Amino acid sequence: MSVMETFDRTFPDGFLWGAATASYQIEGATTEDGRGRSIWDTFSAVPGKVAGGDTGEVACDHYHRVPEDVALMRDLGLDAYRFSIAWPRILPDGTGTPNPAGLAFYDRLVDELRGAGIRPVVTLYHWDLPQALDDRGGWLSRDVAGWFTDYAAVVVDALGDRVTHWTTLNEPWCSSVLSYSIGAHAPGHEDPLEGLVAAHHLMLAHGTAVPVIRDRCAGAEVSITLNPTQVWGPDDGDELDADAVRRADNVFNGLFFGPIFHGAYPDGMLDDTAHLTDHAFIRDGDLATISAPLDTLGVNNYFPTRVRAARDGEDGRNPMPGCDGVVETAPRPPLTAMGWEQSPESHRLILERSARESGLPLYITENGSAWDDTVSDDGRVHDPERVAYLHDHLGAVADAIDHGVDVRGYFAWSLLDNFEWAYGYGKRFGIVHVDYDTQVRTVKDSGLEYARIIAAHRAGR
Ligand code: NOJ
Repeated sequence: MSVMETFDRTFPDGFLWGAATASYQIEGATTEDGRGRSIWDTFSAVPGKVAGGDTGEVACDHYHRVPEDVALMRDLGLDAYRFSIAWPRILPDGTGTPNPAGLAFYDRLVDELRGAGIRPVVTLYHWDLPQALDDRGGWLSRDVAGWFTDYAAVVVDALGDRVTHWTTLNEPWCSSVLSYSIGAHAPGHEDPLEGLVAAHHLMLAHGTAVPVIRDRCAGAEVSITLNPTQVWGPDDGDELDADAVRRADNVFNGLFFGPIFHGAYPDGMLDDTAHLTDHAFIRDGDLATISAPLDTLGVNNYFPTRVRAARDGEDGRNPMPGCDGVVETAPRPPLTAMGWEQSPESHRLILERSARESGLPLYITENGSAWDDTVSDDGRVHDPERVAYLHDHLGAVADAIDHGVDVRGYFAWSLLDNFEWAYGYGKRFGIVHVDYDTQVRTVKDSGLEYARIIAAHRAGR
């Protein structure tokens, strides 16, 4: 099967082909070399919070396997690798004196990558907040803006001579609404207002850190990674359904697009949440800080979201701020093993919207799918569904580019099967299979196909 038969779209010169991971999902070694505790160590130790009682204690043991894992990336032909730094490795108590062994680990990783000709793309926060900071209020405390900025400065000072791609936060929707209102992620709170406050403080932390990163790293390319989703109502929806779409869209998308790119919360959002708060946590000057200019925007996108309005007599309670009366409806097949709807069209639409809202060049910092992969008798992992998902979504990226969107690169989620948060190890997103008993890595058919697509691009086909 040649690439041309399977996938024949072309991408601009210089398009960056990458893969992504995150610290807590792959590193393991959670108690080694002075690493402090994170909110995910705490959360995953609570029975019932993570499927199968799984934790990140060992994960993919990447902490001890950097040379092997970077060699894998080189064999795949990756141009770039997106990874995150574990804040509790650098500052075990969240603030204070940096831990030299923590910095040394990322130092080695960056050097190994550069030695293999792979560009490091660093995310400063991918959800593993030091537990010590959660004990002081976590993302609900306004002080977190200063804590985060001090942490960012330490990392940029250590790696900024070799790293130019900096992402402040990964998917702040998840570290606010999903973590503080819905309760599915650490620290597992269930309060509509808290999600809103946490989102504001995440954005404040981001905006406060941006100029500090620029000051300390000449030529820095500074970004944030959001996870916007296309929100659709019923095909034959009425006004109430349209309002449900508006409210859901505000929480999923406008909550971040608004303050970060337009210096204002989206229309209606403050009114919709006025019964929860007087919004005193939004102080004068905050929106100017939050809307600090960026160089690029990272987009993580996997699936669209479908909603409708609750009908008379129906329980329309919704934990998302300002979303009572909004009911999420079933995704439409075909679904992935996560139960997520596959819609390349929604992928293209969300790229077009992200470009419109931000006015920035985009990177797709994550996209991919989970399937129930196993190693076959022939020693290979046959994952035709993931290959199809990859083709379909790369096709949507190519369509967005044809429609004028400046997309600079694509990062497959994920390089490795890993700890899928509340789903534990049961959900596999890797283009490389991990046997968690032996830590043997096996490149899946999708990984081989991705490598072929990258090679074809490089050969100018
Ligand atoms: C987004 C998150 O950034 C990543 O950590 C997660 O594993 C993937 N989505 C898949 O759910």
